[in-house]
Amino acid sequence: MNILVLGSGGREHALCWKIAASPLLTKLWCAPGNAGIAQDAECVALDVNDHAAVIGFCRDNKIDLVVVGPDALIAAGIVDDLTAAGFKTFGPTKAAGRLESSKSFTKQLCRDNAIPTAAYAHFTDAEAAKAYVRQQGAPIVVKADGLAAGKGVVVATTPDEALAAIDMMFGGGFGEAGAEVVIEQFMEGEEASFFALCDGDTALPLATAQDHKRAFDGDKGPNTGGMGAYSPAPVMTEAMNARVMDEMILPTLRALKAMGTPYKGVLYAGVMMTKDGPKLVEYNARFGDPECQVLMLRMMSDIVPALLAAVDGELRHFDLRWYPEPALTVIMATRGYPGDAPKGSRIEGLDEAAKVEGVEIFHAGTKRVDGHIVANGGRVLNICASGKTVREAQARAYAAVDRIKWPEGFCRRDIGWRAVAREQ
Ligand code: GLY
Repeated sequence: MNILVLGSGGREHALCWKIAASPLLTKLWCAPGNAGIAQDAECVALDVNDHAAVIGFCRDNKIDLVVVGPDALIAAGIVDDLTAAGFKTFGPTKAAGRLESSKSFTKQLCRDNAIPTAAYAHFTDAEAAKAYVRQQGAPIVVKADGLAAGKGVVVATTPDEALAAIDMMFGGGFGEAGAEVVIEQFMEGEEASFFALCDGDTALPLATAQDHKRAFDGDKGPNTGGMGAYSPAPVMTEAMNARVMDEMILPTLRALKAMGTPYKGVLYAGVMMTKDGPKLVEYNARFGDPECQVLMLRMMSDIVPALLAAVDGELRHFDLRWYPEPALTVIMATRGYPGDAPKGSRIEGLDEAAKVEGVEIFHAGTKRVDGHIVANGGRVLNICASGKTVREAQARAYAAVDRIKWPEGFCRRDIGWRAVAREQ
C-alpha cells in the first residue's frame, strides 16, 4: 500500500515509525515531515493547508491511505475533502471533529447524553461571562471555545485570574477561537488520557497514558502541549476503563451517529478521576502528542489494518495486541518554550543516545541543515524508552537525554513521577 501521513510533529514521527514496520506497506510519504521522519518516510514539501495540492499528490502517487495527525487539519476539513476525492482517509470529518474544535458543542453533547463532566456555562460576550465568574467564585476554568494550539484553557485560582482570562480571550488573544468561551467548574483529581479507535459505530479501546502539561519539574510553570508522557496510566484500572467506555465513549459515538456525523478515527478523552468517579475534561479528535509516541512503542500489532478497519467500518471484527511493558517519553524543547523558542541551534549526540537499551527517539521540531540536525521549533525531540517498570523506562530515557549535547535545549527531569512513586 502507498500511505501518506500528514503532519510534522513527534506524533507523526511515531506514526510513521509504526506504519513503516507494516508488511502491508509499499511506500510511505509524510507531508511536511521533519528530519527524523525522513529516516522512515519520504518527506514531501506539500502545503497541507492546500487541500487541492494534497489531493493532487494523492492522485499522482496512487495513495491508498492518508493518515491525518494534527487537530488543525481535521478542523479545516481535510478528511472531508480527501474522502470526497475518493481517498481513504483516517481521521474524523470536520463535523465529527467538533468534539475537539468546539468546547461548547461537546459540553452540550455531554449534557444531552448524561455524559459525566464538569458543570458549565457558555458565553458569547465578556460581560455576561464576568458576571458568572463573580457569582461562582474560584477556582474556576475558562476555556476558549475553539482550537488554541493547546493553550486555550486557563485554570484560574482567583476570580481576578478568571476575569483577566475572559478579557484576554474576548480581546482576541486566541483570535477566532476565543470569540466564545466556556466556563467550567474546577474538578479536583488525577487526570489521564484514554484513547479509542472508532469506526462510526464501534469503539476499540487502545491504551491509556498520562501527560505532563506544565513546563517545569514538580508540575510548575506555564502549560505546554506536553513535556512527557507514559503508558499505561496506573490510575486507569480495568474497571475505570470500562466506565470510560460505557459512560463516555459509546454514548458519544451513538450521539454523533444519530446526528448524521459518525465519528471515525481516534477519540482521545481527557478524563479526571474525581471522588465521584471519572469525568470528561475534554475530547480531542486525534492521537495525543506526546501520548501517541508511547502508545506506538507499546503496540505489538500492525497498525495499518487497524487504521483501515476504522475507515472501513470494520472494527467490530478487530482486536489489537499490546506489549505489557510500560513506555515513557521525555520531551526536549528549545529554551524559551512555550514562549518564543529560537530556531537553528545545533543538536549533537543523537546516535549515541539512540544506543541506550530500549530507547527510540522521535523528532518533532527538527530539520537537517548542512548534514546537521538543528532545532526548528518549541518541542524538538521525544526521547522514548520501554522498560520492565516505569522506573526502568525513565532511567533509560534520561540516560539517553544525558548523551544529547544541546545547550539551547531543556527537559523536565521528573517525567513519570506519579507512576514511579506508585511502584515504590
Ligand atoms: N498531550 C496533549 C494533547 O495532545 O493535546
